[in-house]
Amino acid sequence: MAKLWAGRFGADPSALLDKFNASITFDKKLWRYDILGSITHARMLERIGVLDSNELALIESGLQEIAREIEHGEFSFPIELEDIHMAIESALTSRIGEAGKKLHTARSRNDQVALDFRMYVLDSSVQIMSKILALIDTLLAIASKHTTTLLPGMTHLQHAQPVNFGFHLVAWCASLRRDVERLESLHTRNNLMPLGSGALAGTPYGNDREWISEQLGFRAPTLNAMDSVSDRDFALDLLYALAMLGMHISRMAEELVLWSSSEFGFIRLSDEYATGSSIMPQKKNPDVPELLRGKSGRLYGNLTRLLVVMKSLPLAYNKDTQEDKEAVFDSVETTLLSLEILQALCESMSIEKSAMLKATKMGHLSATDLADFLVQECGVAFREAHHITGRVIAYAESKSRDLSELSPKELESALRPLVQIQNLATLTSSLAKKLSLESSMQARKSLGGTSTKQTKSQIAALRSWAKKAHKHLPTLKAH
Ligand code: ARG
Repeated sequence: MAKLWAGRFGADPSALLDKFNASITFDKKLWRYDILGSITHARMLERIGVLDSNELALIESGLQEIAREIEHGEFSFPIELEDIHMAIESALTSRIGEAGKKLHTARSRNDQVALDFRMYVLDSSVQIMSKILALIDTLLAIASKHTTTLLPGMTHLQHAQPVNFGFHLVAWCASLRRDVERLESLHTRNNLMPLGSGALAGTPYGNDREWISEQLGFRAPTLNAMDSVSDRDFALDLLYALAMLGMHISRMAEELVLWSSSEFGFIRLSDEYATGSSIMPQKKNPDVPELLRGKSGRLYGNLTRLLVVMKSLPLAYNKDTQEDKEAVFDSVETTLLSLEILQALCESMSIEKSAMLKATKMGHLSATDLADFLVQECGVAFREAHHITGRVIAYAESKSRDLSELSPKELESALRPLVQIQNLATLTSSLAKKLSLESSMQARKSLGGTSTKQTKSQIAALRSWAKKAHKHLPTLKAH
């Protein structure tokens, strides 16, 4: 098959070169964007008088027919045609003849691929935002049912202070919100239109770049042709945002793995989203959260891969950048699937309140409340209060009880030798109440704290933010 660029060549390229040089095996994913870009380019060519209306009509209907064939799996992507751009152009010419040969006027594959790939990246960021928002929605629905469900809040993976389960899920959502914001901002920053940059220096045809930009829903044309054909920051922005998102997902997944273990038992994964062991009949394995945790490896790898490809490239276009696509495709597809399955997993898991409560009663989680009581009600210095609390915990342990379970009488006998307080006996019944796990959680009512009221207002704030974010999702360039 003769190459579209074969004019100055005496011999056909080797099959080995075809195999090495081609990107069509993967860049065929860009076909929608290539056709959309070509139709818009052709319309612009007609506006500036390069094509007549007859030629434009032939090109448009030819491209639409090709789109239909690709959609129905009836189009072949021969490797000799190198990439999606040449495959479509040569199919067009073989269908409509001479007019097809004019389509590539006033553009180069360099600005063509920059446009196609940028549109793919922008649309993918919108699809991912919408999936994150759906996940947040699910998590907030669960959170709002569990604003009084106690579980141990941890630091160093050790029981620390009682929190409610809704509050923990809101913490997840707060990180997911930053992911949406990162995607929003990369969409805005990169929503600039590169076509009309030509190979690197612009074109002599008077391309109406503003018009194309407007037609394709960009903010504006890119500033500088040389930068436009060599810039892949938009792809790196996305890879970075997805690496961060993947990191957040891996942290949630890790908690799901822990929580579904016999040691925690805080959740039960539904059978639909758990797997068995080929040898141990009793087992139910959390493969889904484990894989979610593992996928972050790819996402980081893909970011590193493109950063390395781009490093030290001189201006302007270099074929190295053909290596940009697979990393991005992989990260986008991995992320979309991960978000979807994480949402389904959370929707279908059961929440084991009694196991959470039982765990909350382990580790004297209201110890800080005792120290705070000694400071606030008895005028003891915090360091001293810290020490006294340690002694009371030793007392509780000697009785095999949790601090939250000590009676007023027991508290009195534990504290009597440690503090000089006149009315100790009258204070201990209110102290016992304060040391209950429920009051300990409710006492943390500072802005952003775990009390039920604060948790509910965090849920409300996230909901109203998510509603706005959803409403302002950018429109897709193609679908
Ligand atoms: N397949 C190429 C890529 O993805 C398209 C651009 C080719 N341009 C060129 N001058 N060889 O980068």
